[in-house]
Amino acid sequence: MSRRKQVYEGKAKVLYEGPEPGTLVQYFKDDATAFNNQKKGVITGKGVINNRISEYIMTLLGDIGVPTHFLRRLNMREQLIKEVEIVPIEVVVRNVAAGSLSTRLGIAEGTNLPRSIIEFFYKSDELNDPMVSEEHITAFGWATAQEIDDIIALTLRINDFLTGLFLGIGIRLIDFKVEFGRLYQNDDMRIVLADEISPDNCRLWDIRTNEKLDKDRFRRDMGGAAEAYHEVARRLGILPEGGPRDMKGPEVMQ
Ligand code: TMP
Repeated sequence: MSRRKQVYEGKAKVLYEGPEPGTLVQYFKDDATAFNNQKKGVITGKGVINNRISEYIMTLLGDIGVPTHFLRRLNMREQLIKEVEIVPIEVVVRNVAAGSLSTRLGIAEGTNLPRSIIEFFYKSDELNDPMVSEEHITAFGWATAQEIDDIIALTLRINDFLTGLFLGIGIRLIDFKVEFGRLYQNDDMRIVLADEISPDNCRLWDIRTNEKLDKDRFRRDMGGAAEAYHEVARRLGILPEGGPRDMKGPEVMQ
């Protein structure tokens, strides 16, 4: 029997009631899915590594003033987060063509984009997360125009920060997906970064070899997914061996 009340179970994570009102415990599973759950598998150790990577990135983003839901890591697979109302939109930023953009528009994977491109997808498993425009988002009330503005501004800051962070450890940030939530405090509401940032929702390519260090290894049956996630954590200097105080900083590549 679970010691806490489960409030939500997704494909890669479970949310439990937190110790105080307004908090949740986010548990990272090793389960991996792709193509809206059609492909299922396990990447051994993924949950532990994603918990650590997401903690590390959200902490740094908090340090530069990006509001996030993250409070603190609790153990190998769990972190304490603020309870937010998730905006039902997946926000994708692309710096280099890959994945569905390449398929949709016939642009070869690896082509640098003239500028970073933001895309929105409506979060709906039944509809297979269709791509939507700002018009759809405001017309159907999924987010207001002001919220979209805040989301775009935060997403571009996150992209700039992560691009530099990964470049410093020899990794090209091709694209990634983020989700945002509404944090209600007193009479106030603000948009904060939620969910996770990890190799599950980023495309990360080695700068020299273009080797994929992300979930595409699982999506495309390439093998070596667990090793790739491990390599990202190793380069960030946050392998799960010691406690948080044993974490090194990132390993700067020449
Ligand atoms: P895409 O090229 O398949 O649209 O994916 C763009 C980025 O978003 C890529 O880094 C993977 C990530 N992503 C998710 O995190 N969840 C999803 O359900 C999908 C489709 C993509």
